[in-house]
Amino acid sequence: MSYIDTINEQTRPRSGSAQNTGCFAHVVGWGVEVPEKVLTNFDLEEMVDTSDEWIRERTGISERRIAEDRDSTFTLALRAARKALSQANVSPRDLGLIIVATSTPVYLFPSTACMIQDKLGATQAGAFDLLAACTGFIYGLGMAAAQIRTGMIEHALVIGAETLSRIVDWSDRSTCVLFGDGAGAFVLSASDDPGGIIDYVLHSDGSGGDYLVVSSGVKQTWNGEPRRQSLTMNGQEVYRFASRVMSQGTQEVLGMAGLKVDDIDLIIPHQANIRIIKSAARGLKLPMDRFYVNIDRYGNTSAASIPLAIADAVEDGRLKPNDKIVLVAFGAGLTWGALVMDWAVEPTPRSHLREALRESWYILASIRSLLRRLWRVIEAIFWRHDKSKHLESGRSDDEDQE
Ligand code: COA
Repeated sequence: MSYIDTINEQTRPRSGSAQNTGCFAHVVGWGVEVPEKVLTNFDLEEMVDTSDEWIRERTGISERRIAEDRDSTFTLALRAARKALSQANVSPRDLGLIIVATSTPVYLFPSTACMIQDKLGATQAGAFDLLAACTGFIYGLGMAAAQIRTGMIEHALVIGAETLSRIVDWSDRSTCVLFGDGAGAFVLSASDDPGGIIDYVLHSDGSGGDYLVVSSGVKQTWNGEPRRQSLTMNGQEVYRFASRVMSQGTQEVLGMAGLKVDDIDLIIPHQANIRIIKSAARGLKLPMDRFYVNIDRYGNTSAASIPLAIADAVEDGRLKPNDKIVLVAFGAGLTWGALVMDWAVEPTPRSHLREALRESWYILASIRSLLRRLWRVIEAIFWRHDKSKHLESGRSDDEDQE
């Protein structure tokens, strides 16, 4: 190895390598939630100037799910999270971290992750939302795996959840046919057994940010109008970028892990457009049966697309314990990333007693949340009372602390 090669090797970013640590991050459970309401291409024909044939040929999508009015990114994410925790048989109180990857949070703050933390009663968990658009789930898995590998936490919950139907302009045929709603969650746990999340790469290029935009709703000036929030997209530029980075990202992560494409049992790509997946297959010189595709059923569900595809791949018998898989995605930002992992999840057999205990825990979590809210109100009353007494006596808070 030359001097330059040695330096390159030493300085090579290995943001996601598990190879130098004794602690490994394994996925131990997953859960998904898809709305029941189905919107078919034929339904869209009634709404905009489009056709089932055009949508299927250009995108591979036949139908997508739309969240009921009573649902939100939060409720879909919560139900997926509960299923994942139940399958993993991990208690919410053992979670050290909750990450919700989403571009459609209910609020900018509080984060959807904090709302989930409260409802789960995950009293030991840090919680935050992560915005890396359709690459969000891979970013989230990478962040959680890194925390586990460094020994900072033992268990993490990573959720990808979206209600894109709420930010799509339903009169814009070039975008509204593409997107759908859904949520998926993974529980990750520390283990001494080698495997789990092996390596990952995360990338970004903000110079392409204007190809896919949704404004935050924050006003441009202090007295201006709130900004329009619907999604705008330069489809052809996103397509060109995506076709390039899907195969590049896969090759890069495999190189980092010292693996060849033939070592991989299944590639789970972000489900944005069947033609983008086909172009990645050509780039990697792989047949299409090495890629899992379920875009026909859900369209592009952004951060939820990879966990939804994994759940379907397991259901279809395409993904089995001990398979080596690559997850690869791209999205707004621009962002892209890939992750290679051993899929070793053996579903825990269902136990009615455990389910009942878990349900009781969630009821207790709701009571705990109510009590905390009530306590805050009581505390505030006492505090206001104390404050007015101090003001009357002319003493400041600082003097009081002294
Ligand atoms: N139904 C019918 N016609 C449509 C249509 C629709 N839903 N949407 C666009 N068209 C028309 C266009 O107006 C255009 O008509 P024209 O030739 O008369 O101007 C024609 O179809 C071709 O449009 P074009 O944009 O060139 O189509 P395309 O082959 O590039 O496919 C996308 C469009 C959006 C499907 C494709 O570019 C794409 O998938 N891009 C990536 C988007 C993506 O993945 N976004 C999410 C990132 S996470």
